[in-house]
Amino acid sequence: MNRISLVALAVIATVFAFSASAQPAGAWAGLYSSQCAVCHGDQMEGAAEGVALIGELTGGTSVDEIAASIAVGSPDNGMPAWSETMSATEIRQLAIYVAEVRAGTSFSDFKVDELVVPEEAVATSKHTFRLEVVAENVGRYPYSIAPLPGGQILFTEKTQGIMIIGPDGVKSGLIEGSPQGHPMEFARDQIQFGTGYVMDVALHPKFEENGWIYVHHGHRCDDCLVMTPRGPRMQSMNRLMRGRIVDGAWVDEEIIWAADREHYTASTEMAAGGRIAFDSSGYVYISVGMKNGYDGIQDLEFPYGKIHRLHDDGRIPEDNPFVDVDGAYASTWTLGHRSPQGLEFDAEGGVLWQSEMGPRGGDEVNRLEPGKNYGWPWFSKGVHYQGLEVGYDRPDTISIDDIEQPIVDFTPGPAISSLVAYRGSAFPNWEGDLLVGTLKGTTLYRVKVVDGVEQEREAIVGPLARIRDIEVDADGTVLLLLEHRSNSQIVRMVPADA
Ligand code: HEC
Repeated sequence: MNRISLVALAVIATVFAFSASAQPAGAWAGLYSSQCAVCHGDQMEGAAEGVALIGELTGGTSVDEIAASIAVGSPDNGMPAWSETMSATEIRQLAIYVAEVRAGTSFSDFKVDELVVPEEAVATSKHTFRLEVVAENVGRYPYSIAPLPGGQILFTEKTQGIMIIGPDGVKSGLIEGSPQGHPMEFARDQIQFGTGYVMDVALHPKFEENGWIYVHHGHRCDDCLVMTPRGPRMQSMNRLMRGRIVDGAWVDEEIIWAADREHYTASTEMAAGGRIAFDSSGYVYISVGMKNGYDGIQDLEFPYGKIHRLHDDGRIPEDNPFVDVDGAYASTWTLGHRSPQGLEFDAEGGVLWQSEMGPRGGDEVNRLEPGKNYGWPWFSKGVHYQGLEVGYDRPDTISIDDIEQPIVDFTPGPAISSLVAYRGSAFPNWEGDLLVGTLKGTTLYRVKVVDGVEQEREAIVGPLARIRDIEVDADGTVLLLLEHRSNSQIVRMVPADA
């Protein structure tokens, strides 16, 4: 197979992997209608022969419990044991579908034409807060914010680049000389399938002393136009840069991490991850997602589907888990990641947290530990959008026991995005809790995890808008980057009595 068609296959695989529009949308509902609706009703409201599947369920309401109810059935009472006639994947698919309908999740940020941030105070179980608008109309594809000391906010828009939002909410132009984003230049491509995005921006932990700003972007090579089924496309690949902003210009630029040129692909950056996290010992972590379909994610010779760990100047730490493996990317810290949307080090808890979008069902929050395998594309709690079992190229020797399981499972999947571990004085009762954003779900969740086990989950903002990024400011207030086609905004959560 020549290089172009390999690229083409990768693009097809990637598009199928996360594009809801590429799946026959009605297939899941169709399975329900043909097999279940006769007894449970078209809307799961119940019918003469069967109980309602909305409201209380005697067999339990988690996806695992619903799947068990379907598999085992209750033949004496008229519910067939579906494991006799359906595959485990079909049963899982139906369980996820029932859970989605129960959650009312015909998720969409397209339900509202205009984003209006509520003015009233929001009461939640542990804190009441208001949302203050910091900046409006920040851009169509915002990706990242990083509060600077003194009230300014660094900001990235994927197709543009780095800008600064002033305390008055006014946005600067693109920072001169900094990595810039590329809108799609070929008519058949949609802008949201781009290559050459500017993704996360983050401050070095000692920024006030050294001024370093880190930017993770999809670097386009100069001479790499290839043909794909969607038309001609430029190749790109994740790259971590650092520089300083002096007098409004980007200076002292250094490449901190880059992939080998042969690993650049025409696959979109939608699932490329592109986050940055610093720990408290001088290391920086970056998330590199699916940039070549499913290929290479389980292979240490490829950079895709990995979290990489580096010294802050780009040197490879000697105690990285795969430094002695021949041919491996020595920067690899963990592997088996799909679409890593959030990465955050909690210094007090000593935990590197990561969030990633699964297929349909199976969005995850993971606790990352060196050398561990998080499973994609071999295992997932979700099911492919086409209704197929997750298990691409899975060797017979691998079992689910070899795979790290998520600490928090978001099924049905709300399209999980960024996350933080909250530490701050503004909301003391949230100390140590995870704040987890969602895109389709348009909701911010607070999740309490104790000893690696989820204890509480509460929706604290929304449904409102796609929540792209979350940052805790120095005073403990929480900044949210809201993405909406009408008017993307930055808002600040402040205690209601402040
Ligand atoms: C012939 C009728 C019939 C069909 C077809 C049928 N069910 Fe059921 N189902 C029932 C009945 C009756 C019960 C209640 C059983 C009981 O009370 O023990 C039930 C129970 C359930 C439960 C457990 C409810 C609870 O309270 O925990 C689930 C989940 C469920 N069905 C899902 C499905 C799905 C999904 C399908 C399609 C694959 C399906 N059922 C097809 C009759 C049916």
